[in-house]
Amino acid sequence: MQMKSILRVKRDGKELTREQIEFWVKGISDKSIPDYQSSAMLMAIFHHGMNIRERSDLTLAMSRSGSRMDLRSLGSFVIDKHSSGGIGDKTSLMLAPAMAAFGLKVPMISGRGLGFTGGTLDKLHSLPGFTHELSEARRMQILQSHGAFIGGQTSEIAPADRTLYALRDVTETVEEISLITASILSKKFTEDLDALVLDIKCGSGAFMSDLEKARELADSLVKTSQAAGIRCHALITRMNFPLGAETGNLNEVIESLQYLSPGSQYYEVARQHISVKDHIFSHAPVSSAIDNLVFVTQALMIEMLAITGKFSAEEAHGQILSKWASGELLQKYKEILSEQGVDWKEADDLIHNFNKQREKKSIPVLAQNSGFLVDCNGASLGNLMVELGAGRKKAEDSVNPQVSFTLKAWENKPVMKGEIIGSLFAEENSNANSIAEKISETFTITESKDNDIHYIYDRLAN
Ligand code: URA
Repeated sequence: MQMKSILRVKRDGKELTREQIEFWVKGISDKSIPDYQSSAMLMAIFHHGMNIRERSDLTLAMSRSGSRMDLRSLGSFVIDKHSSGGIGDKTSLMLAPAMAAFGLKVPMISGRGLGFTGGTLDKLHSLPGFTHELSEARRMQILQSHGAFIGGQTSEIAPADRTLYALRDVTETVEEISLITASILSKKFTEDLDALVLDIKCGSGAFMSDLEKARELADSLVKTSQAAGIRCHALITRMNFPLGAETGNLNEVIESLQYLSPGSQYYEVARQHISVKDHIFSHAPVSSAIDNLVFVTQALMIEMLAITGKFSAEEAHGQILSKWASGELLQKYKEILSEQGVDWKEADDLIHNFNKQREKKSIPVLAQNSGFLVDCNGASLGNLMVELGAGRKKAEDSVNPQVSFTLKAWENKPVMKGEIIGSLFAEENSNANSIAEKISETFTITESKDNDIHYIYDRLAN
């Protein structure tokens, strides 16, 4: 086989065979195919796309280009979730332990943050002792005994994706849907999954601001997974406002601990305001900064249990509430983090001191006008947080775990000019006052509110 003849097939808009796709990906891995030919292939795919069978073959070939976990010996249902990312998105922190509490296995590979959205690993690294660097044997041991680990991306996971991503970046082919699909799924498929649940975010604070585009991506991911033999469901969720009350790192972990505490206000929102019938959630009363987080997290938890085929959505909702109320979810979370090095005595002291400092030294963020808060520009808010050190501009930057923004308002809330809508904590940063002012400008305040808020826009299941 010759790369030139494979290139001709896609250049002419025809379908590639599995063998041709595997030949290309193998050539990327062993460097027998030069970057200029892969770049030409990317451009041909950009113009002609790939059908679902080709996407599935590309995904599988890429996922086999490096090391893979072999979890069959666990004899349990293996599941993970992927989110397309958004401000304040800490759902993974609650989902992994919750699924583990139901006996599922969650080999969660997460990223460090780069750009305006944070990474799960950065959030967890704000706890003393936490490590994501676990040997394969240790990962297996934690999975076996505790049901979940939260590890990091390594250079051995789908290395073909790493090469292709760099080439997509310089050839302006990043946004092609088959390439996005194969890139996301190839990394997840190294986890030997039975099922994957996707949270595709849609709105001003998301990668996809348009519902049709979000649906197209979700549909491609679900159908490609199905073609590859992996069960996959997707929720398309609203991302017009930070998710939950906290945005930052340590404060987001604190929010996740509060979330899973029995009888927490998060639990009460779920118990009192969520009713589920056949995956349809009752309409949300938007009256606190935590509602959106609770609705999205609970919808994902329910979807992850339902995809196993062992629970209806209604049963899943009831059983989660019961494990939550008994303290099992929080206990599982703390247990997993202890296994990954967290010293809870030190962590509790750190959290206590941090909360005291925040109370004393936070800077208020004020409403710029009177009216209804209808939107927050997630990218602008995220970039301002990065300015203060909550995230990275370059991969080698370090993160200040204590920089935090706390929302005191929510979507559609009526506000008066000068009212406090949030607070910023960025000790020792001389720019904090001016950034607090700029944060207030990321919120849109209008004369009328949006009367039709849905947190879950759509559900796609194969
Ligand atoms: N996330 C990925 O991993 N790859 C893409 O191409 C887009 C989002």
